[in-house]
Order: sequence, then C-alpha cells, then structure tokens
Amino acid sequence: MKKHLNTLIILLSIFFNQITFTQEIKSTDEIISARVDSVIALMTLDEKIGQLNQLSFGIGWGPTVKSNVPDEYKELIREGKIGSFLNALGADFTRDLQKIAVTESRLKIPLIFGYDVIHGFKTIFPIPLAEAATWQPEMLEMSTHYQALEASSAGINWTFSPMVDIARDPRWGRIMEGSGEDPYLGSLMAAASVRGYQGNLSDKNIIACAKHYAGYGGAEGGRDYNTVDISERTLQDVYLPPFKSAVDAGVQTLMASFNEINGVPSSASKYLLTDVLRDEWGFKGFVVSDWNSIGELVIHGVAVDLKQAANIAINAGLDMDMESRAYITYLAALVKEGKVSEETVNESVKRVLRVKFLLGLFDDPFKYCNEEREKETILSKEVKDAALEVAKKSFVLLKNENNLLPLKKDYKKIAVIGPLANSTENPLGGWAAMGDSSDVISILAGLKNYVKGNTEILFSEGCKINDPSTIGFTDAINTANNSDIVILCLGEGNDMSGEACSRSTLDLPGVQEQLAKELFKTGKPIVVVLMNGRPLSINWLNENILAILETWFPGITAGEAIAQVLFGDYNPAGKLPVTFPRTVGQIPIYYNHKNSGRPGDLKNHYTSKYLDLPLTPLYPFGYGLSYTTFSYSNLSLNKNKITKNDKLQISVTVKNTGNYDGEEVVQLYIQDLVGSVTRPVKELKRFQKIFLKKGESKTVEFTLSEKDLRFTTADMKFASEPGTFKVYAGTNSVDVLESQFELVQD
Ligand code: NOJ
Repeated sequence: MKKHLNTLIILLSIFFNQITFTQEIKSTDEIISARVDSVIALMTLDEKIGQLNQLSFGIGWGPTVKSNVPDEYKELIREGKIGSFLNALGADFTRDLQKIAVTESRLKIPLIFGYDVIHGFKTIFPIPLAEAATWQPEMLEMSTHYQALEASSAGINWTFSPMVDIARDPRWGRIMEGSGEDPYLGSLMAAASVRGYQGNLSDKNIIACAKHYAGYGGAEGGRDYNTVDISERTLQDVYLPPFKSAVDAGVQTLMASFNEINGVPSSASKYLLTDVLRDEWGFKGFVVSDWNSIGELVIHGVAVDLKQAANIAINAGLDMDMESRAYITYLAALVKEGKVSEETVNESVKRVLRVKFLLGLFDDPFKYCNEEREKETILSKEVKDAALEVAKKSFVLLKNENNLLPLKKDYKKIAVIGPLANSTENPLGGWAAMGDSSDVISILAGLKNYVKGNTEILFSEGCKINDPSTIGFTDAINTANNSDIVILCLGEGNDMSGEACSRSTLDLPGVQEQLAKELFKTGKPIVVVLMNGRPLSINWLNENILAILETWFPGITAGEAIAQVLFGDYNPAGKLPVTFPRTVGQIPIYYNHKNSGRPGDLKNHYTSKYLDLPLTPLYPFGYGLSYTTFSYSNLSLNKNKITKNDKLQISVTVKNTGNYDGEEVVQLYIQDLVGSVTRPVKELKRFQKIFLKKGESKTVEFTLSEKDLRFTTADMKFASEPGTFKVYAGTNSVDVLESQFELVQD
C-alpha cells in the first residue's frame, strides 16, 4: 500500500512538475534524473522496450501530414510500444498522435517527433555544403535557429541534423549535406548548428542529431553505404572531431551510420557507441540507429538474424531502433534469455526519457502543437529574410576576368540561358524537407524582378540537365546573339546529390558543356551561374568563361540572392569548404594531405603525381574571389618559441586594394614539420571573416596555444610534440604568407 502511495506521489510530481520528494535535488540534471528514475520504476519491460522503438509514419520514406491514424499505430501507441515517430508532421497531426500517447497509454509517456530538417523545414535554406562556404559559423547558427523555429511550430521536436561527416570524395552524393573536407571548419560548423537548433530548448527549439556516426563519408569509391576502411589515427584526427565538437556543444542525440568501419558496422560498434562516445566524451544523450541499420547488420554479415542484430546493437550502446523493429520484436526475449541485461535496457530508456524531459514534453506534451504559431511562422518574412542572407553569403566567386561582374545596370538585353535558369525545383537541393517548388524564386524570375523592366530579360533553356538532346541549342544561340550578355545557368539536378546519389564523374551532366561551347562561339560575354551539390570538374568553363559564380543549391530565395550578387548589391565572399578536382581521376585530393617520401614534382619522374595532370586541383580548399581584391602583408608572431603554457599571437595585415567594399575570410594554417608520425602539409587552425572598405586595411590577430598542435601520436596519445611548425596565413589554402615557430619543452 505504502509503495502504491509513493508511486502516486511520484506520478503526481511528474505531471505537475513539482519535485516533492527530496530537498537535496539541486541541478536540472539531478531533477531530470530523479524524474526519469521515478518513471522507469513504473515501467514494464515491454513499455521500456517501446521507448526504444522508432517508426516512420506511413509506408516507406516520406512525410505524412494530417491523416487518419491506422489501427496498428493506435494500438502500438496505447500499449506504449512506440517511443518516437519520424516523418509525422504538422501541429494538428502530431497533436492527434500525442493525444493517444498521453491519454490512452498506461504511463502517458509523450512521443518525440523526428524529421529530416536538413536545411530548412518549409523555407528551404542553402544546402549545408553551401552554408559551410560562408565560413561563418554564426550564419549556420542563424540558419538552424530559423529552421528549428519553423519545424517546432509544426509539431517537430527533433531533427536528424547536422550531418557532420567529413567528406573527401566528391563522388559521394551526401557531400552536399555536410561541411566539406576539413575537421576544424567542420567542427565549428557542427557546434554552431547544434547551438542554433537546440538553443535553450524552448518550444521554438528542437533537439539536434549529429550524424552519421562514424566515418560514413569515407565510403570507398565515394559509393554511398560502401565499406569504410580508415586507420584509427585518421578516424581520430579527421572524422571524429566534428562529432566531439557537437557533443561538447551539447547535442542530445547522435545517429549511428549505415557503414561498417574497419570491419565493424557502426551500429554494432561498442568501441564507437560506448567506449569513445560515452566513456571518453561523456555523452549523456541517446543514439538512434539509421533507417533499419540494425536490420542491416544481418546483411553486413555480423549477425545471423534480426534477433542477434538486436542483441549486438543494444549491447554496443545503440539506444533507439529506427524502423527495423528488431528491439520491439526481440529485446524482451533476449532479456529473458539473459543475453541482454535489463540494466542495459534501462540505461537506454533512461537516456530517451531524459531527452523527453529536457524537451519539456512531460510537462506539456502539446508544447509543439500550436496551429496558430505554425501558420504565423511557416514561410514568414523573418525566416525568408534569413534564408536570403545565408544564400548570398554562401556563393563562391570562382572566376571574374575583365571585371565582368558585378553586372552593369545599363545592359539593354540580358540572355538567361540554361537548364537551371527557369527551374524552381532544383534550387531546393536534395533533402529539402517540406520545401515546395512553388515557393522558389528561379534565377530567371529573380533577375526579372531585379531589373524591374529597365532591362529586357530573354530566356532560352538550351538543353535539359541530363539529356543528350541538343535540339534547344539553336534557340539558345539566337537568344544569345540577340542580347548584350549571357547568364548561363548550369549544373546538376537536385536529385543528383544527397543520399544514394553518388556519381562516377564530376563533369557537367548531359550536353551542358557543349551548350556552353556553342554559346562561347557567339562572342558574347558569358557569366556562368552554377548550381550543384558537390565540386564539379569544370575545366573548360574555367579556361574559357570570363566569370563563374558557384551558388550550390541556394534554397527558395535562389533567384533573388543571385540577382543581388550578380548586380553587386552584395559582394560575394564565400570560400570553398572542399577542393574542386580537375578530374574525377584526381580523387582523393584534399588540402591537408601528407607529404609522402616523394612529393609530386613534374620535373622529376619518380615522384607522386599523374603523368597527365598538373599537381594542383582546379580550385583549392578555402578558395573564393571577391569583386574587390585583397593584399596580405606583415605576417608576424609575438614569439618564435613557445612552451605549452604560452600563447602564440599571430597577426597579419590585410588591405582592400580593389574598387569595392568587401568581406574576406582570412585563413590561418600550420604545418608540423616533424612528428613521431607523418603530419599533414597544412592544417586549418583559425579563420576570421572581416569587412574592409575600399582602401582600408586591418591587422587580424589569431591566438594559438599548444592545445592546437595536438594530434594522435605514434603511441596513440592525443598530444603535441616539440619541434618546428610553419604558420601560413592567406586568402586560401595555397596563396599564403609563411613564417615559423618552435614548440619547446618547458
Ligand atoms: C537515412 C539517412 O541516412 C539519414 O540521414 C536519415 O536521417 C534517415 N534516413 C531518416 O530519414
């Protein structure tokens, strides 16, 4: 009787948010943990396992808005056999589902609703690779803040984002979902994204999920889902830092990746999921599998059947099962057979409940179900303005000869040509959530709006994105001939990057390059506007076209952002977060490679190079021009020797030497010349985006300390080693000033 009374008191305390049972409780963590314990004490094994089960609403992948709840789902929710849905959206619809959970199930535990809000919910922002090209973590923080604002108004409280996979192979379609090739830039972006989504976990924030843990971007051949075989050192120094950074920034969930890594699928990896993530990094949130990645343990060949897969995954530390139904089907039996301890299940359940408490769902399960807020927020001006700002900042000017850009305002006729010119679907990019092409401003529409009838805008599609037909060439050529300048809009379709969208070539698809060559013959000045989700090898364009603007997939404000940048209302300042190879055969090519014993030298046959290619990429990491120019001088260090207690101050002067005000990303790299293991030829350590008026100069200061020099040493410790380090500062990873210092033992 006394026990029941206690239970009642605890339950009341949960639902009325009053901690009545102890005076010692102080921190939020302690309060939550006590509340979690009080819930878990009431749960049957089946109810516990239910919390670890996540199902997608509807059949297959894809979002479901307001619809009838099938009896099967109703029953599962009532029985407490679902902890979370993905792909169920809308304030009203999530309310319907939540209502069943909190009124019809025995313990009334609220559901958590997940969705892939990758670069926007309805207001689609630029793809994440583009957001990384801003080199402004605060831009990504703003973007994810607004993405959360929209998603949270539509019942969503958990996004499967950010993707923080380092990607060194542009054939991999998912390169577009991340921040590119560099662990330092990637780590800053990961943290910014987590801050933006999660904020202070108010009803306008959502829980973030760092994915895909781990090594997913290292797929052999860039082929999605493929084997990953990388050294422990590379894993530690290159692939894991962004995850660690997300954890340090307070990310509440991680997603285990599909791939195997060095023989062990991530979803079965106790090393990754427990030893590194929890024991080393102290992660307190929960890990969700990728879609059926527990089921795929059987296909990988590490489990004979789904039951063994469930056993391996839960014991490795994988808390929530997305869609394979392995846990809901087999965990209870595994516990009874003694293969999985109830304690292990309890730990996972506690982690899930903890996040639900953090979100405040126990206190107000309908916190995210406010139809009025949904109406006000979705596609609101505030969110669209933010998307426009990020888009402009994400563009990278790859070439601009004869100062063709910015466009003069007195052209009489501008020809807008190409398969991406009038497209409203493609600017959304991949993983565009609830994005709708009817909300997108195409390049053509953007330019027409911009010139407001003062200039005539002509249009011809020329060709399709990925089609052999050249039938539209004649019209395109006539249109070009009939105009003063051509804006040629080329690139990939939005369905050519993203999940399962690996490509074996980085060339422009279809006959687009041929179209460019034909238009080139007209002698008209041409500006190429590129849209794509990965680096492209655009050698011919680079050699022949005067101006090239990389706009990635800019989201719904595409045309507006592009018009403003082409006409110079905003001076582009984006920098490449990933190397652009000359050809697919150059892959892997990334700036922070090792030197080798025979670094490439075209004059020396027996060196590391290709017989038929220059040593350099088409555009290096960190590259990007401006309508103005910058000069760098006076790279200076306050010391030429530091100990581990010192701070090294590095300064460099940057001058705007051109004709426009503009922003510049000042980049700082180091090179550890000699180590117990070989070290990269350059590593990005700091950067700063500065604004300089025409003629203005600024001295930019950076501070480094011994901590910044650490790496995984020969004996697998994360430490620095005394010796000489070079310091490079410049406008990209190649064009740099150079100095050096020594790290000495104190
Ligand atoms: C599979 C993808 O790999 C992952 O990134 C995504 O979050 C899930 N599906 C859910 O849609």
